Parts: sequence; C-alpha cells; structure tokens
Amino acid sequence: MMSQMSEALPSHRKISDEQFAFLAKYLSSKYGLRVPPEKRILLESRLISRLNSLKFDSITEYLDYVFKSKEAHHEYQLFVEQITTHKTFFFREAYQFDYLTKLLPDYTQKVGVNHVVNIWSAGCSTGEEVYTLGMVLNEKRATMPHLDFRITGTDVSVPSLKKAAKGLYSIIESENIPDNLKTKYFNNQMTAHGPMINFSNREVVAKIRLGVLNLNKKHYNLPNTFDFIFCRNVIIYFDAKTRSEVLERMVERLRPGGYLFLGHSETALGTNLPLKSIQPTIYQKI
Ligand SMILES: C[S@@+](CC[C@H](N)C(=O)[O-])C[C@H]1O[C@@H](n2cnc3c(N)ncnc32)[C@H](O)[C@@H]1O
Repeated sequence: MMSQMSEALPSHRKISDEQFAFLAKYLSSKYGLRVPPEKRILLESRLISRLNSLKFDSITEYLDYVFKSKEAHHEYQLFVEQITTHKTFFFREAYQFDYLTKLLPDYTQKVGVNHVVNIWSAGCSTGEEVYTLGMVLNEKRATMPHLDFRITGTDVSVPSLKKAAKGLYSIIESENIPDNLKTKYFNNQMTAHGPMINFSNREVVAKIRLGVLNLNKKHYNLPNTFDFIFCRNVIIYFDAKTRSEVLERMVERLRPGGYLFLGHSETALGTNLPLKSIQPTIYQKI
C-alpha cells in the first residue's frame, strides 16, 4: 500500500537517492538511528506529511527549510518527532512493573530505608511509562510507607515531552490503566478533541522531572545515579555501535545492585558490561 502511494507521487515529492543518503547519515551520526533502505518509504511519507502541512511543494524545499533556515527551530523539532517512533502505552510489558514492586522491599533494605529511589525512564516518549511508574511506586507506599522516589523522564523529542508534561490522554490511550487507578490518579476533562483524562495526583507529579536528552550524546547531563533504569523500545532503533555505547553510558549511571529494564526485543547480552541477566529484558548491575 505504502509503495503504491509512493509510485503515485510526482518525482519532486519523492525522496531522491541523495536525500535519502544524506538523511540516513545525518540521523545516524546525530541520534544513532539506524535508517536501512527498507525505511525509505516510511521516511518519505513522514516528510510528505510535514511538507503538506507547511504547503511546501517539494521535499527539497522542505529539507532546505529544516536544515538551512534560521527560523526553522520549531519545524526541526517536528521533523525529529516525525522521524522517530513514539508508540507507547500505559503498563506496557506489565510483568516488569510487577517485578519491580516485588523486589522493592529487599532492595530498599539493602540500600537503606531512607534512600530515595531514583528511576530513569530513558526514551519516555509521551509520558505513559513515567506515569505508570509513578502510580506503581505510589501504590507500593501502602505497604512501604517509608518509600520515597523520584522519576526522571527524558526523550529527544520535544513535542512528545510537551505531551508528557501535560499528562493528558485520550480514552483509547488510557485503556490499559486499571479502573481503580484511573479514578484515583486522573481527572476527566472535556477537550476540543473529545473526552480525555488528565494525570492529576500532585504528590506524584512533584516527584517527576522531564527533560530533553539525546542518548547519542557522549555525556549525559543528569543530576544523579539511578536505582532503576527503564530504557524500553528505544535502543532497537539504534545502529549496533550506538546501542552498545548507550548501554555502556546507562550502566555507568546505574547504582551497583540497581536494575536495567529493556524492551521485549532488546538485549544487553553479548556485551562486557557489569550486568547479571535476571530474566530476558531485566538485568542487575554487579
Ligand atoms: C517507541 S518509543 C518508546 C517509549 C517507551 N519507552 C515505551 O517503551 O513505551 C521510543 C522513544 O525513543 C526516543 N528516541 C529515539 N532516539 C532517541 C535518542 N537518540 N535519544 C533519546 N531518545 C530517543 C523517541 O523519541 C521515542 O519517544
């Protein structure tokens, strides 16, 4: 279907070999993203959608605007948003949150009950992972009243982070949230886009920080080390070199004894990192 659409495009609205080569190289060196030839049609359709919104006539015109114009700062953010994948949902890979809540009593015994548990959601997209962690940790306080925590959510996409900061989700986006938690943590809100729910638990919101971070940067400007790092469905989009460099930098940021959670099709096996595999996708720093 996609390729039929592409065939029907006039040539100035198709991505040329040179443009594809330029973008693949640029996205790889700046963000570590792997853009194989199979992604060409997808990339083209995402660019077309932006150039249609801006009423540009050709991909050349659009790319010139994004890369050469001084006023294109906002469009550059939308360009990054378009070329990255943001699929996420509440309680994704729920077994990992169950695992986290089960290990917390022993973990806090070891690090000291006054220790503030620090969690990093790296590549948090539109915030569902961050708020899931907020609810899960806050619920755990029923049996661990001393438990205190902070959650840092980072992503390279500014529009996604803006949505995360709003904490506003459609009924479909929120369908995985158990009803009791929906009632407890969210308010209903009628918006121009229809009925939505808004994360409204102030105590939890106060424990969350969101910020822009390109994981392909050599230095992560983060204030602390973490007890738990969730980096799920992010490194799968990176080339092999970036994947291993990012894992290395993340593990540097993990406390010994802390845990790393990856996505279901990602692995840290085969690296020389000081990690013990607990079960597929869950690792503990030695
Ligand atoms: C598919 S989402 C995963 C969201 C969430 N972690 C989950 O598993 O549901 C991937 C996210 O990684 C982000 N991302 C891609 N490249 C990145 C980079 N170089 N640095 C930081 N985040 C990046 C994207 O912007 C996107 O929001």
